[in-house]
Amino acid sequence: MQNNIPLSLYVHIPWCVKKCPYCDFNSHEKDSSFDEKKYVEALLADLEDEYEHCQQRTLSSIFFGGGTPSLFSADAIHTVINHARQLFKFNDIEITLEANPGTFEQEKFNAFRQAGVNRLSIGIQSFNQEHLESLGRIHDSKQALSAIETAKLAGFENINLDLMFGLPQQSIQQALDDVKTACAFDVPHISHYQLTIEENTYFHKHTPVLPETDLLWEMQTQCQDLLADNAYQQYEISAYAKKDKHCLHNYNYWLFGDYIGIGAGAHGKLSTIDNKDQSLKIIRRWKHRQPRQYIDKTLSGNAVSGEGILKRQDIVFEFLLNALRLKTGSDIKTFKKHTGLDFYYLENAVKNVDPELLIIDKDTIATTDRGFLFLNEILEKLV
Ligand SMILES: C[S@@+](CC[C@H](N)C(=O)[O-])C[C@H]1O[C@@H](n2cnc3c(N)ncnc32)[C@H](O)[C@@H]1O
Ligand code: SF4
Repeated sequence: MQNNIPLSLYVHIPWCVKKCPYCDFNSHEKDSSFDEKKYVEALLADLEDEYEHCQQRTLSSIFFGGGTPSLFSADAIHTVINHARQLFKFNDIEITLEANPGTFEQEKFNAFRQAGVNRLSIGIQSFNQEHLESLGRIHDSKQALSAIETAKLAGFENINLDLMFGLPQQSIQQALDDVKTACAFDVPHISHYQLTIEENTYFHKHTPVLPETDLLWEMQTQCQDLLADNAYQQYEISAYAKKDKHCLHNYNYWLFGDYIGIGAGAHGKLSTIDNKDQSLKIIRRWKHRQPRQYIDKTLSGNAVSGEGILKRQDIVFEFLLNALRLKTGSDIKTFKKHTGLDFYYLENAVKNVDPELLIIDKDTIATTDRGFLFLNEILEKLV
């Protein structure tokens, strides 16, 4: 049987100009390990290996994430997109590139557009100079503004702006000012993340003074209202979009679609359908984390660092972990198609969850408005 679960491609670019003190992503300061040419060679080899597991399938999105993909040349990005185009069918494809305002040059962004990138995700974080400094960002507030102009001049219409709130010493008014400035650009998508202190970061060891819980709650609520007033609908915990402008790539993750992950530390999820009994098997596969090791291992034919088949209870849990982040949850047809499981397993997994927090029937599973605010309480009650 033909596998028609949507398929996305994630490409990880693991270098940044400088490591931000709050960041726990697999990103490394651009040092002697930086080797664009060899890394692209490794990405192509990695993609070819992955292709063996999903021949004949159509790609619905590509996401260049990081790290700072905009550190790479447009030629490098073009080479990867072209190779994907040679291997896979493309269908109305969304191709996103994450960009840091400290790396914007008009010519380069024109060339990214030419290379096939049709969506930019710009890591603004804040427009406030003091907050940018406290976050250790490489860009200033002027560059934050001009990056958006540069992107528009290069012909990008589909733009996301990443903002963070709950910043050191941030007042509600300052958080609102950031949202207001972002809304004024009238981009289709805004991501609004609460700053979290992650282990193994500089901020974990030297934690700055952050807004108190009550203040944070008020800040988030007021920012949400301001986003709604500007026609940005919240469709996921941190994602807000104008009508029909949600991120297709992330939507596919949240609905437990398939994705290939290539690049240092990237992981993927692929389902295969057994021709004999039509049963579905889901495989997770991940790649070597350190950039140099990834390049060396991949170029000697060994990109994969580990893999495993998901067990039934993990499938249901992972499905819920993702789908319940969406405000509208998931329909049951999608659950069945993307997990290969009967409704019974889903119903059983949520049987201890308070019905005030979650709605489940033969058609849909979704949090209630209250459940959306207390997702952790739901997850704790899963069987
Ligand atoms: C993978 S990062 C890459 C974006 C790009 N490198 C940049 O920083 O401009 C994606 C986004 O995650 C968010 N992020 C990273 N660390 C975070 C943290 N500790 N708490 C909240 N949001 C975070 C930031 O908004 C960032 O833009
Ligand atoms: S630029 Fe982005 S990916 Fe790089 S360290 Fe900063 S937040 Fe992390």
